[in-house]
Amino acid sequence: MEKVFTSFLLTSLLLHYVMANLAMTKTNITTDQLALLSLKSQIISDPSHFLDENWSPAVSVCHWVGVTCGSRHQRVNSLNLSNMALMGKIRRDIGNFTFLVSLDLGSNNFHGNFPQEMAHLGRLKFLDLSSNSFRGEIPSWFGF
Ligand SMILES: *[C@@H]1O[C@H](CO)[C@@H](O)[C@H](O)[C@H]1NC(C)=O
Ligand SMILES: *[C@@H]1O[C@H](CO)[C@@H](O)[C@H](O)[C@H]1NC(C)=O
Ligand SMILES: *[C@@H]1O[C@H](CO)[C@@H](O)[C@H](O)[C@H]1NC(C)=O
Repeated sequence: MEKVFTSFLLTSLLLHYVMANLAMTKTNITTDQLALLSLKSQIISDPSHFLDENWSPAVSVCHWVGVTCGSRHQRVNSLNLSNMALMGKIRRDIGNFTFLVSLDLGSNNFHGNFPQEMAHLGRLKFLDLSSNSFRGEIPSWFGF
């Protein structure tokens, strides 16, 4: 019985490891960079030039204003663009941040609907969309 359990455990661990690696080989920091540039491209007003001047491909995205990367995976795990007077829409590419844990877009002028793809942010634990002009409610498909 113990042997069966041990082998079950090992198989589970192996499976977990393989799946985690699969997820990581399919996406990388370039995925995050493309998603950030897509976000930037939808911003029609950035009066203090936060993203305008700082979000440049010449610098690693982990050093961009408002972006934090995790030490383990070196992937974007937090995005904090709160209170920057940004105006624009949020596109479906927001769902491409595989490792995003915290998203703070509070106190800006974002408008439009929430893209369904936000539901792909499986690791998200903190979300602040307050004080924006988003239309409608946070849809029920969002697993909170
Ligand atoms: C990310 O993956 C793509 C292919 O999936 C590859 O072309 C690119 O060089 C990778 N970028 C980095 C920074 O590893
Ligand atoms: C986001 O992911 C989708 C699906 O993999 C892909 O088609 C799209 O090009 C990605 N967006 C960006 C900005 O890389
Ligand atoms: C985002 O940044 C603002 C200003 O620095 C700070 O007050 C807020 O707590 C941050 N949000 C998160 C989720 O850390």
